[in-house]
Amino acid sequence: MILEFSYLTSAIFFIVGLKLMNSPLTARRGNLISSIGMLIAVIATLWHRDILSFSWIFAGLSMGTVIGAIIAYRVPMTAMPEMVALLNGFGGLSSLLVGWSVYHGNLHISSYEAFTIYLSILIGGATFSGSMIAWGKLHEVLSGKPLLFRGQQIVNILLISSLLVLGFLYCTAPLENYGTLFAIISLSLLLGVFMVLPIGGADMPVVISLLNSYSGMAASAAGFVLKNNVLIVSGALVGASGIILTQVMCKAMNRSLFHVLFSGFGSVKKKVTSQVIGEIKSLVAKDAYHVLEAAKSIVVVPGYGLAVAQAQHLLKELTAILEKRGADVTYAIHSVAGRMPGHMNVLLAEAGVPYEQLIEMEAINPRMEQVDVCLVIGANDVVNLSARDDTSSSIYGMPIIEVDRAKHVFILKRSTAFGFAGIENPLFFKENSSMIFGDAKQTLQSLVAEFKS
Ligand code: TAP
Repeated sequence: MILEFSYLTSAIFFIVGLKLMNSPLTARRGNLISSIGMLIAVIATLWHRDILSFSWIFAGLSMGTVIGAIIAYRVPMTAMPEMVALLNGFGGLSSLLVGWSVYHGNLHISSYEAFTIYLSILIGGATFSGSMIAWGKLHEVLSGKPLLFRGQQIVNILLISSLLVLGFLYCTAPLENYGTLFAIISLSLLLGVFMVLPIGGADMPVVISLLNSYSGMAASAAGFVLKNNVLIVSGALVGASGIILTQVMCKAMNRSLFHVLFSGFGSVKKKVTSQVIGEIKSLVAKDAYHVLEAAKSIVVVPGYGLAVAQAQHLLKELTAILEKRGADVTYAIHSVAGRMPGHMNVLLAEAGVPYEQLIEMEAINPRMEQVDVCLVIGANDVVNLSARDDTSSSIYGMPIIEVDRAKHVFILKRSTAFGFAGIENPLFFKENSSMIFGDAKQTLQSLVAEFKS
C-alpha cells in the first residue's frame, strides 16, 4: 500500500515536472521536481527490499554513478546529442536484459507474461542497436548519408514478418522456446540497425527524438514484465513526450514521420550539390564593423559552429555594444539548429541572452526585408537556400531562416565547408552575402575590438 502510494506520488511529480519543462523559464524547476519524483520512486523500491538484495543495488549504483559521472563530466556541450543517443541505447539495452533475465529465471510463464517479455526485448533491442548507429552517425564514425543496399525494402519486410511469427510462436509456448527468444533478440537488434542506417544526416533530429520515445516504450514494457507501476508510468511518459518532440521536429523540418523512416528505403537522391550562381565575397572584421556600426536592425542566426567555437559570451558582448549604440538586436532560432532540441536556447541562456530576444523562424521570416544585417554565426543547413529553391535537393522542403532577404548577410565560419546535411549552400554566393572566414570566437573578438577602439 505504502509502495503504491509512493509510486503514485512519483508519477504526479513526473507529470508536474514535464509540464514545467514546457517553458525555458520554469524548465529548471521542472527538472528538479522530476528528480525528486525519481528519488521517491528509488527510495520506495529500496524500502520494499525483497525486490533485490542491497549488495546488488549498491554494486549497480556505485558502478553506474562512477561511469555516468565520468562520462557526463567529460562530454562537451556539442557532443550532448551523442550522449543522449547512448543513454537512449542503454535504456533500451536494460529493458532487453530485464525481459531476458525474467524469462531465464522463471519456471512458470503465462502467454501474457511472455508477451510483455517479447515487447520488452523487441523494443529494447531495436532501440539499443538503432541508438548505436545514431551515435555512430553523430560521432561521424559512420557516414551521415543514407546507407542503403539493393533490396533493403524486401529484407525489412521479411525481418518484420519473421519477428511477428517468432513472437507468436514464443508467446504460445514460452518455456519450450528459448531458441526462438534468441532469434527474437538477434532480429530485433538487426531491425534497429536497418531502421536507422537509411536515415540521412539532416533527418537525425527526428531519429534522436524517436529513439528517445522508443526507450520510454521499452522501459514501460519492462515495467509490465516486472509488474512495476512506476516504471510503466515513467516509461509511458518518456514514450509520449518523445513522440510529441518527434512531431515538433518533423514540423520544423516539414517532413512526415513516414517520409523520414521510409524515404531512404527506396532510392537515394544522388544529387547533393546545388547549381550555384555568383561568387563568394569575403570580408575582414574591420569592413564588417563599418556596416554593423550603421545598422539599425540586426538579426543574429546562431548555429552549431557557435557552440563549437564556444563564442556565445563574446556574441553577447558584441550585441550589448550594438544595442547600446541604438541598434535593435534579435536572435532568430531554428528548431533544429545545433545538434539537439533547444541547443541554441541553452547556449544563449548560458551567456545571459534574455528569452524575449529569441524569435522563432516563423516570426522572423516575414520581417526579414526590414533587417539591415543578418549575422549568421556557425549556421549552415538552417540557412541553406537549396532547402527552399532546389527541388532536387535532399533537404528540399525543410523550412529555413530566409536570411538572404535581409539587406546584408555576414556569414561567420571557417571555410565554405558543408553543414551536417553535407550539401552546398547557395547563400554563400549571393550578391548581398559576405563571408567572414575564421573561428567564430576569433572573428567576434575582432569585431568587439573594432568597436572598443
Ligand atoms: P550545420 O549545418 O551543421 O553547420 C555548422 C557550420 O558551423 C559548419 O558549416 C561549419 O563550417 C561551422 N563551424 C564549425 N565550427 C566552427 C567554428 N569554430 N567557428 C565558426 N564556424 C564553425 O549547423 P546548423 O545550421 O546549426 O544546422 C544543424 C544541422 O544539424 C541540421 O542539418 C540538423 O538537421 C542537424 N541535426 C540537428 C539536431 C538537432 S535536434 N538540433 C540533431 C542532429 C542533427 P566550417 O567548418 O566552414 O567552419
